[in-house]
Amino acid sequence: MRKKVIAGNWKMNMLPNETINFIDKFSKLVKDSENEIILCVPFVDLFYALLHVQGTNIKIGAQNMYWEEKGAFTGEISGNMLKSIGVEYVIIGHSERRAYFAETDEIVNKKIKAALKCKLKPIICVGETLEQREQGKAIEIIKLQIQEAFKDIDKNDMENIIIAYEPIWAIGTGKTATSEDANNTIKAIREEISKIYGQDVAKRVIMQYGGSVKSSNSQELFSMSDIDGGLVGGASLDAEEFSKIANYK
Ligand code: PGA
Repeated sequence: MRKKVIAGNWKMNMLPNETINFIDKFSKLVKDSENEIILCVPFVDLFYALLHVQGTNIKIGAQNMYWEEKGAFTGEISGNMLKSIGVEYVIIGHSERRAYFAETDEIVNKKIKAALKCKLKPIICVGETLEQREQGKAIEIIKLQIQEAFKDIDKNDMENIIIAYEPIWAIGTGKTATSEDANNTIKAIREEISKIYGQDVAKRVIMQYGGSVKSSNSQELFSMSDIDGGLVGGASLDAEEFSKIANYK
């Protein structure tokens, strides 16, 4: 049985003091949760978040990293830097990074390799645009994203990887994929992983749904056969609301 993994993606929100207040409140609300709970916070909040989740069941992730280990890359943050302060997860290839910061599938692949090399666990985002969906190309596009993302990634690393299916038209829009639809697309992703790494690996990989997840729809989404939790944006900024999602049973 795969566990449920519920990750908050704060995007460019929350100052350090807000981070501390959030964690103090949220950690009490989710202390009995049996799910894996991750908060992916902005770089400047990471250290505060790591200090304040000590002794709780909350893990901390970053939202991006650069693929080189060090050097003249002004403004970038390496995987080693994240790992050295205790970060465990890193979101890679979020659609906002693909759209606003020109991240290609090739870059996504480089970042995944760099993350794995320094023992960070990547949460890899894939998903189609509304246009691609309307043209009936969603599955084809996502399969391509998967093939490119996993180029030369070793089978043994697959247990440290999470895949998040996030239809772009559902992110921040209030529109959610129906649970059947999301489940079917995730099944197709599992088939693609199975083609590359075999059934055994495909069965074990954690696959999340993301895109306007809220406490009012999370129960239904997470109870689907292939959806192993969620990557939650807007609704993860409110401790009470996010705790209802993270406490999924
Ligand atoms: P949303 O964002 O929950 O606000 O739609 C999800 C995401 O972008 O990860």
